Amino acid sequence: MSKVLFVCLGNICRSPAAEGVFTKMVADAGLNSQIQIDSCGTSGHHSGENADPRMIEHAEKRGYQLSSIARGLTPQDLDTFDWVITMDRSNYNNVLKVATPENRHKVKTMLSFAQEYHKEEVPDPYYGGPEGFEHVLDLLEDSCKGLLSEVRKTL
Ligand code: 4NP
Repeated sequence: MSKVLFVCLGNICRSPAAEGVFTKMVADAGLNSQIQIDSCGTSGHHSGENADPRMIEHAEKRGYQLSSIARGLTPQDLDTFDWVITMDRSNYNNVLKVATPENRHKVKTMLSFAQEYHKEEVPDPYYGGPEGFEHVLDLLEDSCKGLLSEVRKTL
């Protein structure tokens, strides 16, 4: 069993989408019983909310169901999960602030797993237009493929 946590700022756009994309890939690979997936935000500001309706709609068009309810990151998450995957540099730095010397090796950036895209960050689509949400999904689909092949090696 491997546990994967996706982290963004609000847990209503990028990390719920990452959770939805990765969940479908894991299910399609028949690995549901071996990989557990969750998401959270470094800020608890949107706690209890569904994913952003724009993100839900763009994801649905590609066949992904986003069902997450937003929650904030806790220090315990760094112990519970084996992989803690951040969307941008700010998320990465904020997660490392609650990590310990023993668990900081679990923290990795989403785009470090990308194969087609050579970028560092999954940009926040919240204040932009529809193309921003599509771009997020392109980046996540690419990164999730690479992530799944790495997680598989550890099962
Ligand atoms: P997320 O996007 O981090 O991808 O969930 C955001 C959602 C809300 C806000 C910022 C980013 N906000 O400022 O409310």
